[in-house]
Amino acid sequence: MSMSASISSTLSILFLVSILKAVDGGGIGVSYGRSATNLPPPAQVAQFLAHSTTFDRVKLFDADPAAVQAFANTDLAVDITVPNNLIANLTDLRFARRWVRANIAPHVDDVNIARILLGNEVVSTANRKLISALVPAMQNLHTALIGLSLQHRIKVAAPQSLAVLAASDPPSAGKFKDGYAAAAVMKPLLSFLRATASPFMVNAYPFFGFTIDTLDYALFRASAGGGVVDESTGGVYSNMLDAQLDAVFSAMKRLGFADVDIVVAETGWPSAGDPWEVGVNVDNAREYNKNLVEHVASGVGTPLQPNRTFEAYVFSLFNENLKPGPLSERNFGLFRADMVPVYDIGVLKTEVGGQEGSNAPVQVLNPTLPSKADSKKWCVPKPNTEMLLLQENIEYVCGQSINCEPIQPGGMCYFPDTVAAHASFLMNEYYQAFGRNDFDCDFGQTGMITTIDPSYGTCIYSS
Ligand SMILES: *[C@@H]1O[C@H](CO)[C@@H](O)[C@H](O)[C@H]1NC(C)=O
Ligand SMILES: *[C@@H]1O[C@H](CO)[C@@H](O)[C@H](O)[C@H]1NC(C)=O
Repeated sequence: MSMSASISSTLSILFLVSILKAVDGGGIGVSYGRSATNLPPPAQVAQFLAHSTTFDRVKLFDADPAAVQAFANTDLAVDITVPNNLIANLTDLRFARRWVRANIAPHVDDVNIARILLGNEVVSTANRKLISALVPAMQNLHTALIGLSLQHRIKVAAPQSLAVLAASDPPSAGKFKDGYAAAAVMKPLLSFLRATASPFMVNAYPFFGFTIDTLDYALFRASAGGGVVDESTGGVYSNMLDAQLDAVFSAMKRLGFADVDIVVAETGWPSAGDPWEVGVNVDNAREYNKNLVEHVASGVGTPLQPNRTFEAYVFSLFNENLKPGPLSERNFGLFRADMVPVYDIGVLKTEVGGQEGSNAPVQVLNPTLPSKADSKKWCVPKPNTEMLLLQENIEYVCGQSINCEPIQPGGMCYFPDTVAAHASFLMNEYYQAFGRNDFDCDFGQTGMITTIDPSYGTCIYSS
């Protein structure tokens, strides 16, 4: 092991002490979207999440039986989504019973299904028929779960966007939009959630709310001069997410539902975007998500909700190449489609040997040191390279006097145990060892040079 690797490990252990509590059991989940042509099969993804990350929950945007069953015999809590186009059908109780028998019952013995989510952001669709079907559909699903004695284990919820709010600034002025949605939907929705001990789930994105002047506030960079003050409560806000969550809380409180839990159903920051998209880069994405994870799990809470811990789902697990819209939409992932990290926020396990589900201590990350050495370069596989070719690269490099122990069981880079991650580490070792010429990263046109340090946890890439 090189000197720098030992120093990093020591740092990582020191750092571990300070954040292990926050990360362990903090209720940090990830949204597993699959709008992409190039993702690994769900079984591989489930094993990866269970063995190689500290996420303890995952949110699916569908109820695809293969994807649900992939999480069998893992400890991950799984949220399943009923697509918007089935919500109206679920207002028929017989349909709801059939749906639960077909989509939930077959999995409950070995998958830790935690919630059934009704669509995504239904209340802000402006589709009156869909909106009016929402709560009756939720009630029917709950009734169907009672029929199978699953109602305590599996909750029914419905993630909404911040667009349900008519006012959010200052946070204490938060209120739901008037009229149809509030009267006919928000109150019955919150009543249902309270009655069934289910949370109000909200997609909250400071990324979609910041301006160039509030970038630091959005990224949780506590400003020296204090934060934004809510004059009517005296609450001091150090970050935009807290303000958003308190606006939601104020709106709920106004309707008499301050006691219903709030879950951050989606939040995130893209790592790449179109040239005109401000504030979009790998460093900001890493900073946002890393600070998010530490903040929501810390138990500090928000000015209006002190000492409260928020369960949160990072959006998203993968970059998804079929997402429409600006380039940023396809770059919210923590991982590339081949499971190579886009950046590291401290969710990768690097300790080998822990059994699935055991409480074996997990070494969490070294703090990501600011990358000052801009001239540094690394070699990684091009995205979407065929696994067979990457396997050949591994074999080639290991035949060239490069030390391949780090990717073997017990090695510093064994996890994530994927061909792409192993190839990535070794291709860079080769590139560095043989003189860092561009052609040393060619690998039959499967390699590419990057200036972003691909190191994570105790897996330190040479540079
Ligand atoms: C849901 O309802 C729509 C409209 O009535 C119908 O066309 C569709 O077939 C139904 N879906 C299922 C799965 O039954
Ligand atoms: C929050 O925690 C602090 C420190 O433990 C305590 O002093 C304070 O009373 C708590 N506040 C609430 C509202 O529970």
